[in-house]
Amino acid sequence: MNDSVFTEVDQYIHRLFVPDDEALNKTMLSIKETGIPSISVSFTQGKMLFLLAKMSRATRILEVGTLAGFSTIFLARALPDNGELVSLELEQKHADIASKNIAGAGLAHKVKILVGPAGDSLDQLISEGAQPFDFIFIDADKPPYAEYFEKALKLSVSGTVIVADNVVREGRILDTETKDEDAAGIARFNKLLAETPEVDASILQTVGEKMHDGIAIAIVK
Ligand SMILES: C[S@@+](CC[C@H](N)C(=O)[O-])C[C@H]1O[C@@H](n2cnc3c(N)ncnc32)[C@H](O)[C@@H]1O
Repeated sequence: MNDSVFTEVDQYIHRLFVPDDEALNKTMLSIKETGIPSISVSFTQGKMLFLLAKMSRATRILEVGTLAGFSTIFLARALPDNGELVSLELEQKHADIASKNIAGAGLAHKVKILVGPAGDSLDQLISEGAQPFDFIFIDADKPPYAEYFEKALKLSVSGTVIVADNVVREGRILDTETKDEDAAGIARFNKLLAETPEVDASILQTVGEKMHDGIAIAIVK
């Protein structure tokens, strides 16, 4: 079996479960047209995020890493109409593109983007005493994932679901001597996740249009 079957099956799942979605197609196009990095989740991964958020009956979602708002749209759609999604993004340009895409999807009333380093925005939310979130998706720069997780825990309650993307990195997390700072950061996060008594967690490996990778899924006890 070669890797192309993973891509073909991913496209098959995409055609079956996320067909002809104008807002998402336009968002994907905006990534190409504006030349920002093509590092969003895939359509099939986005649909999975939507399902996980829906299953957790989230009314408040926190996202770390907005890019063009592709995953944001999936997640905001899982919220009831009076729900709220706060998304954290470093780059003003990404936030502006995302705001346009989110408005185009008719979701602007549910989404607030905080621009700046995610660590600072998380500290701000904690110090403001923000209401806890029911679902948290971590998908920004990889070296501080462990720090993001620790801060996310402070914004959680029993039952909060925490999902983190890109936690396998084609297996590079297995190399304890790695010079790849992203893989090393993820390995630190994975270990912390496994050793944190406040959560039950595991990792699901993923293949498809994107490289071999994985998502961590945790629930706060
Ligand atoms: C993988 S992309 C997010 C993709 C998005 N979740 C999706 O699937 O559509 C990561 C985003 O995190 C942002 N980012 C990088 N470092 C950051 C930081 N320190 N604080 C906040 N955002 C950061 C990047 O600018 C980029 O837009």
